Formats: sequence, C-alpha cells, structure tokens
Amino acid sequence: MDYSLLWLDWKKRGGLPPWTGRVEGTPETPQGKAALRELREGLAALGAAPGTGCLRLREEPGNGEGWTLTREGEDVVLAGPGRGLLYASFSLLEKLALGREVRPEASAPRYPLRMLDHWDNADGSIERGYGGNSFFFRGNRPVCDGRTRDYARLLASVGLNACCLNNVNVFGEALELITGKYDKVLREIGDTLGEYGVSLWLCVNFAAPLDQGGLPTADPLDPAVRAWWRETCDRLFAAVPGLRGFLVKADSEGRPGPQTYGRTQAEGANMLAEAVRPHGGTILWRCFVYNCTQDWRDGKTDRARAQYDTFAPLDGAFGENVLLQVKNGPVDFQVREPVSPLLLRLERTRSIVEFQLAQEYTGQQWHVCYLAPLMKEVLDFTGPTGAVKDRLEAVCAVSNTGDDCNWCGHDLAAANLYAFGRLCWDPDLGSEALAREWVKLTCGPDPAVEETVTDILLRSREVYEQYTSPLGLGWLCWPPTHYGPSPDGFEYDRWGTYHKATCREIGVERGPSGTGYSDQYGPELGALYGSMDTCPEELLLFFHRVPYGHRMKDGRTLLQRIYDDHFAGFAAAEEMAAAWDRLEGRVPEDAFRRVRERFKEQVRSAREWRDIINSWLYRLTLIPDEQGREIYL
Ligand code: GCU
Repeated sequence: MDYSLLWLDWKKRGGLPPWTGRVEGTPETPQGKAALRELREGLAALGAAPGTGCLRLREEPGNGEGWTLTREGEDVVLAGPGRGLLYASFSLLEKLALGREVRPEASAPRYPLRMLDHWDNADGSIERGYGGNSFFFRGNRPVCDGRTRDYARLLASVGLNACCLNNVNVFGEALELITGKYDKVLREIGDTLGEYGVSLWLCVNFAAPLDQGGLPTADPLDPAVRAWWRETCDRLFAAVPGLRGFLVKADSEGRPGPQTYGRTQAEGANMLAEAVRPHGGTILWRCFVYNCTQDWRDGKTDRARAQYDTFAPLDGAFGENVLLQVKNGPVDFQVREPVSPLLLRLERTRSIVEFQLAQEYTGQQWHVCYLAPLMKEVLDFTGPTGAVKDRLEAVCAVSNTGDDCNWCGHDLAAANLYAFGRLCWDPDLGSEALAREWVKLTCGPDPAVEETVTDILLRSREVYEQYTSPLGLGWLCWPPTHYGPSPDGFEYDRWGTYHKATCREIGVERGPSGTGYSDQYGPELGALYGSMDTCPEELLLFFHRVPYGHRMKDGRTLLQRIYDDHFAGFAAAEEMAAAWDRLEGRVPEDAFRRVRERFKEQVRSAREWRDIINSWLYRLTLIPDEQGREIYL
C-alpha cells in the first residue's frame, strides 16, 4: 500500500480489558458486517488477548445511525442498526487506542447528512486540490479500488456518511457521469462506499439537457427538459443504488443556471428535486451566486450582499427535498469572515453549511492551519434566531484529500478532516480535545508530541491570519493561485473583492452609511457590526473603511496593529517550525521530514507576506513602525 491509514493505523498497546479478546455477533447488513470485521482486525492490532467475557454486537433492524454500549455481566454489548454498529465500533476502537475507560453510553449524530465534497475532475486533477491527484478519477474515468474502500473507512471512522464525487464545476468527461456511460463503475463506487454507510452524490451540469440531451433549451419550466431529467434520474438511480442526490452549482462563476431563462433559483432547484424525488433523492443547491464580472469602479455593488439578496426573498419557495448549501461566510472561505447572514435568516428552507477543508485561502496545505476553531465559531454563532448549529440540517466541507501518500499533502492537515467529521457528529466537541485525540491516534501516546503538535494546531489559524489577512480584510493573495501576497492583485479585477486602500484609509464600508451589508444581520447584530465602535476588532476591516490612525481598543493605531501582526505572525511561524524540529526522533521519520519541508516553506512564505504587506502600507502612508523595525521602502 503506498498510502497511510492516518488515524486508523492502530498501534499495539497493552492492558486492554479482558472482554476485548473475543468478538461475537452475526450482523446481516453490509455495515454490520464491516463493523464486525473492523472490530476483529482493530482489536487484534491493538493487542487484545483472550480473557473473560466478550464483546457482543447486537444488530437491530432499521436504518438509523445511533448506537448504545452497555455491560451485561462480564460482556460489553454494542447495539444498534448496522450503520450504528459501524460508528460504535470505530468509537470503541478509538477509546481503547486512547487508553480511555469504556463506560455505558448512547450516541447519535446531530445531523442526518455529514458530507465531504470533492472538487475532483474527470481528468484526475483536483480543483483547489493540495493533496495530490484524484483517487476517484484516473485516466479520464472513475475508478473503484482498494483506496475507495480505505477512504470510506476513514469517513465512517469519524462519522461522515456522504460524499460527492466530482467538482461543482462540471466539465469534460464528468458531464458523462449521468448519461449511463459510467453506471457500472459508479455502482461499484456506491456499493463500496455504502458498505461503510457513505452515500454517493454527484455534481451535475444544469445545462445537461442541452449539452448531453440534445434539447434546444435547459429551461427548468420546459416540459421536455423536465421529462429529460426525470428519465435520466429514473435510469441513473436504478443503475446506481448508492446514489442519494445531486449537488448543483448554478448561475455561479459562469456556470449555467435558471437565470439564463429568466427563472428563479427556486424554479431551477425544484425542477431537479421533482426528478429525484421518486428515488428518495435530494438536491443540494449552492447559494454561491454573485456577480463575478463586477467593474471595480462600481462602488455600489457589494459581493458580500449577493447570496442573501438572492436567496432570502425565496425562503419557503424550495421543495422539501432541496437543501440550500451556504458557504460559512458571505464571500469565499477566507481565514476570517463573519458568519453568512443567510444561515441565520432561512426559516422555511432547509440548509446545509459548506466549509472548506481544502486550504485554498488558508495556506494550501503548505502552511499549517487547523480549522476546527473556525468551524466551531460558525456552528456556535448565535443570532436572534438561535445558534447556527441548531438551525442546520446538514454539514459539508470541500475535501482536502488526494492520492498523496499522506492523503492531505501536509501531514497535519489530516487533523482538519478528523475534526470536521467529529464536529458533524457532535458540534459541541471542543477544538482542543479533537486536536489532542487526533495527535494521539496518529502519533501514539508520547506526551511531548501531544503537547507540541496540539499547541501548533491551536495557534495555527491565528498565526496564518496575522500575516495574511489583517482584521478580516482578506483577498491580499495572488489572484491566479490564491497563494502568496499580492496586495493589489484583486484590486482592479472583476471579482468584487476590494480593499480600496489609499494613503489615509483602508477597507470597504459595509455599515448603514456604506453598502448596508450589516443590515442583513437584523437590528441587533446589524447595529453591532454596523458601528466601528462596537464591531468585533477581528472583523473591523471586513465591515468598515477605517483611517490608519484609528485607535484600537488597546490604544495602538490600526496601522501599528497591522505592522505588529505581521511581525508577530512571522515570528510565530518560525517558533512553530522550531517546535516541530524538536520532535525529531519522536515521530516517524518520513512524516517528520515531510512536515519539516512544509514548515520551511511556511516560514519563507510568512516572511514574504510580512515584508510585502508591511512595505505596501508603509509606501502608501509613509508612517514608520513605532518600534523601528525594518520595513522596506
Ligand atoms: C472559489 C474557488 C473556485 C470554486 C468556487 C466554488 O471561487 O476559487 O475554484 O469553483 O469557489 O466554490 O464554486
């Protein structure tokens, strides 16, 4: 095998309870059988030896995902439907691997749909992929092999139960995924994933009736178009039993959609929903709709407003089997954004939040950036309509995996995959606890490794933010790749992401005197964000246009704060790299070397960010650093 099993690489440890020596049960479902196999193999790898009592698997009927663990005399009993048993088994193995006491408990996931979205292209490349090439597509066709199964195991082990195979931008051979050409292999993939309780989803092209069906239109209200989708779904869902639905990027960044035909987003989504409904299917309809051909001279249009402006008026107009898929922030996966106001607004429409584990804007898996704190910030965010985590029906994230030997390029990026899955099961878990668990499962019980790596992970997002994105500004990166500093790179472009820095002030005013974006949060939060005095400082430059001399709460000027953050961020990147170096000999050699190489790049890049952003602002303002540190003219 030329890839690791990440946290599923059970390591031998002594002192397992006596009932772990024997596993009994005759589950009948594929998931129950997988549970039995995982337990037998996992316990053997952990070093279980025959003793008194046994571990019994009791499969109950049903399709639920919850499970219980009880004690019956000397035995331990795991009970639940097949899928529940699978999650129970992984949970038990983790506890034993972590040396935790096994106590009676009951567990069930908070959300019924917990999903990873792959931006894999049919040609094997991955859009914004930083962990190698696709393991779902090779040689311009989908493949099903041992890695498909190991991937499904990884997902199930953290409680994930769905995966969308292909990029939201559907092009090339991926257009054929729904035409019948690949039914056989899709069925195999669906079955393999299904054995581990993972359902299969596909991204579809809204214009497929035109492009693949040969019809003159893709108008969602056209009867021939509706019939084409119905027939396509009738065939596809019968041929691929593991399929649960479609994810659709429509009217977004050049993708076709209902707007072309003067129809609403709801008319587009509902037409597809009707076609998948007889098969129990669901449509995940992305809300990433904005004007991506904005003229930078147009100061009125505000991209941050777009999704709410488009979708909030349609609340209640979507079919029951439609979920609106909303990115966590209003713009696009920056290291710091406010929570999308759409997530707080939808009352009569089901929604799924979308995170991005692929570190497109957070260091591309060359920089370490542990995203659990960001995800928790969003899930825990509470507005007048309640906490985001209580309003959602589902959670998904753009995957950070690829065919690299360590799956994610950066070994520490696997912590994001782990934490994401666990948070989808239970959003009340803590970032630190998840980091510790992941480190111990991955690297073993060495306390020095646990402390060092946990500390690196917990600092990492803020450090990355310090040198790349002052106070919520974002978008200072190089446009083609989204990596490295280029402060004016997006400034005169069409993407609607401007800082408008002059020699006096910086940022776009999104309060009531500006674009009015802050009003989308309702009166209370709107007032908080809408005023420079009450706006949380970490989002000051997201919401406001601020003079460089503005006094921050600690008395520093805005400019000085930005200079300081860049110096501090770079210094912290050096410290994290040095801390990792001290782990030589304590973590496996190959992982040690890989991560050291990544840290070298992170430090190089952090220095570049520090110098370019600080110099850019120094040249604009000619205000020197109060501490006299070198800034290049
Ligand atoms: C970002 C990203 C694109 C992606 C898009 C999306 O803009 O850069 O590669 O297609 O998000 O989420 O659809």
